[in-house]
Amino acid sequence: MQQDPAGVCVDLFGSDLWPDQQKILESVRDHPKTAWRSCHGIGKTYIAARLVLWWLYSFPYSIVLTTAPTWRQVEDLLWKEIRAAHAHSRIPLGGHLPQRATELQIDGKNWAAIGLSTNDPNRFQGYHSEHLLVVVDEAAGVAEDIFEAINGVLTSAHCRLILIGNPTDIGGQFYRAFRTEGWNTGSTAAWQTPNFTHYGITREDIISGEWQQKAKKKPNGDWDWPMPWLITPAWAANALQEWGEHHPAWSARVEGEFPEQGEYNVIPLSWIEQAQDRWPDTISTGSVILGVDVARGGMDKSAIAARQGKKILWVKTYSGLDTQQLAGEVLKEYRATNAMQVNVDVIGLGAGVVDELNLHSDINCREINVSSSSDVRDKDGNRVYQNLRAELWWSLRQALDPKGDELLALPKDGGLLGDLAAPRYSFAKGWIQIEDKEQTKKRLGRSPDEGDAVMLTYAPFKDATVLRLPTKPMVKQYRIERISW
Ligand SMILES: Nc1ncnc2c1ncn2[C@@H]1O[C@H](COP(=O)(O)OP(=O)(O)O)[C@@H](O)[C@H]1O
Ligand SMILES: [Mg+2]
Repeated sequence: MQQDPAGVCVDLFGSDLWPDQQKILESVRDHPKTAWRSCHGIGKTYIAARLVLWWLYSFPYSIVLTTAPTWRQVEDLLWKEIRAAHAHSRIPLGGHLPQRATELQIDGKNWAAIGLSTNDPNRFQGYHSEHLLVVVDEAAGVAEDIFEAINGVLTSAHCRLILIGNPTDIGGQFYRAFRTEGWNTGSTAAWQTPNFTHYGITREDIISGEWQQKAKKKPNGDWDWPMPWLITPAWAANALQEWGEHHPAWSARVEGEFPEQGEYNVIPLSWIEQAQDRWPDTISTGSVILGVDVARGGMDKSAIAARQGKKILWVKTYSGLDTQQLAGEVLKEYRATNAMQVNVDVIGLGAGVVDELNLHSDINCREINVSSSSDVRDKDGNRVYQNLRAELWWSLRQALDPKGDELLALPKDGGLLGDLAAPRYSFAKGWIQIEDKEQTKKRLGRSPDEGDAVMLTYAPFKDATVLRLPTKPMVKQYRIERISW
C-alpha cells in the first residue's frame, strides 16, 4: 500500500486514472518535493484528494496538511473530493470525518489530515510526525509567508510536499519551484490530456478549428469525449475565442505554462480567480454605482457594470445599440438597482449617452474622461500616474491585491476575467503607464469592454466628496464633473 498509490486509487476508490494523474502520485511517493503545473481540469484536485487518503491510511500516525489560496478552494474543492473518496471507498476506511468537515482524524490530532486556511501562517506550526505530507492546491495564489511556515514543519525524514495548480502567477514559490534544484516537476498542457489524445487533437487543431473534424459526436449530437469531466477541445476552443492565444489566461489555463509577460500585467490572473472565488460569500452593502463603457466602433460592445461596495454585482454587454438606446438601458438599470451614481466613459460616443442621461433629474451622472490627467502626487510632488485611466486601473489592482483588507469580489465570467487580465503597464517616465486600449485590443482580439466598465465603477472609490454625501445623494447639485481626490 505504501509503495502503490495508484493501486490504492484504482482498487480502493475505483478511480479511472489517466497517465499524468499516475505520474503525480508516483512523484510524491518518490520525491520529497513535487511541483506540477497544468491547464484547467486535468484532475489535479481529484488526485490530490486521493493522495491525502493514500498517505494517511498507508503510514501509521501520519499527518497531512492541505491548503489553497481561498477557504472555498479548501472546503468546497479539495475536501469535497476527500469526503467523496472516503465515503465511497470499497473497504470502509474508518476514521472520523463529519459532513462538511475539513479534518479527518484516525487518532485525534496525532494521526489526521487537516485543511488549513492561508489567512494565518501560524496555523501551520506545531505539527510533528515521522510521515508528514503537505498538499498545496492552486499553489500560484498562495503567499510567501505560508511557504515559509510550511518549510518550518517539513523537518522529519519522511516528508513530502506537493504544489499543484494552474501556473497563473509568476514570481512566487510555485514559479520558482520550476527553476530551482531539489524539485521534481512536471506539466500538463490541454493537448496531452485524454479528450485530446484520444482523437489526436493538437494545439494547431484548436487554433485552426480543425479539431471539429477529428472529434466524434454521439447520436444525440453532443461531443463524445472519453473523459468528459476533464478539459475538452470544445472548452479550449471556447477559451481561444474568449482570450486569444496571447493572453495570460490562455497560457495558464490551456497551455499549462506561466504567462510570459506576467510581471507586467496590471492584475495577475490568480488575483482575479480569487476575487471570483469569494464572490458567492461576499455580502454587498452600501449604494450601487454603475460604470458604462460605450462602444467606440463596429465590433466593440457597450458594457454596464454594477458595483455595490466591495462586490461587482454583474456586468452586462450590449451590441448594436445607439446612444439613446444605451442610455435607456442605463436608466433602466439605474432605477432597478436604486443606484446613487453612474460613471460614463465620455470619450467618443459616450458624450451622447451622458447628454441623454442628463435629461433625467433623478440620475446622478458623471462623465469620466480617462485620458485626462491624474491629480495624484507622491510625497515629493511627482506624478504617480500617466493619466486617469492608469490611476483607475491601478485602484482596481489594489482592490484585488490579496494583501489588502477590503477585497473586491468579481462575478465568475470568463470574458471579464479575460478583460481584467489583459492590460499591461510600464514605468516609462517614472510614473505608472497603462498601455493604450488599442494595444490591449490587438492582443485580446477584441475590446476589453467589460473590464473597462468595472474600472469605471471603481472611479469614485476614494472620492470622499461622493462617498460622504451628507444628504440627498440623488440631487443634481452634488454632481461632480471631474474626479479630484
Ligand atoms: N480519474 C478521475 N475519475 C473520475 N473523475 C475525475 C477523475 N479526475 C478528475 N475527475 C473529475 O473531473 C473534474 C475536474 O477535476 P479537478 O480535480 O477539479 O481538475 P483540476 O483541479 O485539474 O482543475 C472533477 O469533477 C473531478 O471530480
Ligand atoms: Mg483544482
